Amino acid sequence: MTFSCINTAHPSPRSPRLLRLHQSDARAIRIELAAGLLASASSIAPKFLYDALGSRLFAAITELPEYYPTRTEAAIFRTHQNAIAAAMGKGCTLVDLGAGNCEKAASLFDALRPTRYVAIDISADYLADALDYLQFRHPALDLLGIGMDFSTAFNLPDEAGVDACVVFYPGSSIGNFTPQAAEVFLRQVRLAAKGGGLLIGVDLNKPSEILEPAYDDTLGVTAAFNRNMLTVANQLLGANFEVADFRHVAYFNRVESRIEMHLEALRDVSICWPDAAAVSSQVSTQESVRQFRAGERIHTENSYKYTPESFAALMRRAGYTRITKWTDADEWFGVFWADG
Ligand code: AVJ
Repeated sequence: MTFSCINTAHPSPRSPRLLRLHQSDARAIRIELAAGLLASASSIAPKFLYDALGSRLFAAITELPEYYPTRTEAAIFRTHQNAIAAAMGKGCTLVDLGAGNCEKAASLFDALRPTRYVAIDISADYLADALDYLQFRHPALDLLGIGMDFSTAFNLPDEAGVDACVVFYPGSSIGNFTPQAAEVFLRQVRLAAKGGGLLIGVDLNKPSEILEPAYDDTLGVTAAFNRNMLTVANQLLGANFEVADFRHVAYFNRVESRIEMHLEALRDVSICWPDAAAVSSQVSTQESVRQFRAGERIHTENSYKYTPESFAALMRRAGYTRITKWTDADEWFGVFWADG
């Protein structure tokens, strides 16, 4: 693991610290991407959706009329903020997983009054800007940003603090994990919180007529978000994808209870990139090639949907015992709190 600590030069009384914990180096990322593409059922992991442009496209998605989760969750937080704050207790260290622009957590600061805020996101650059702005608005708050990929394993670095903390995992990002992986992940979160709690937002099962447009909007923002992955793959892998050769596909798989996103080839294409070994030895002769037939798909994301009961059961399997939940009137989205 390599890491460096950068103190941004900032004239405010406090300046947000930013840790970059990059568990995988550029070579490991190329190997991971290549393995996914070369598999007979081709895939690219959803974390590759969030480069600088992808993070901005996701922020745009949350504003779309069809994308109900963000605003439904925000309404639940707003309606129940006093009950949530009472359950959590004031003055906690709030650890935000996948903090992005940090606005969700910031909107709870008045009710929760955390003494420390630790923002974790895969996109460290995006986090740096967000934290500078947050520090400007909350000059006294102790802020720490951590750029890391927690999609395969989660633990908190010592810099995050030694005491109990509240982990905040909103937005139904847990939906990217399979239920089995989600259980493993939540168990890691429970241990990392050292006796603290977990506040988590989860998208709930509902008719396909509502689910599918949320992942295939009329303006095509989600399509752009998905197809941008090909640009990311070109940058990270040195591949030669043409974005115009692939279309966005999203549908609800009711058997698995998940939205699936895919990129479907519109024609036969041949994708190549230099091998990881060739890149590190700077010999450019070795290449990998992956042909895609017209109609063949690259699986890019799963977004699992739960019932209030099935998610509480998952939390219990992860070791949580005291679970409280809040939902909207339609039960479209659930916010769960557990502290034991
Ligand atoms: C950030 C994983 C919660 O699954 O709804 C939005 C990502 N993908 N539109 C989701 C996403 C397409 C989002 N999560």
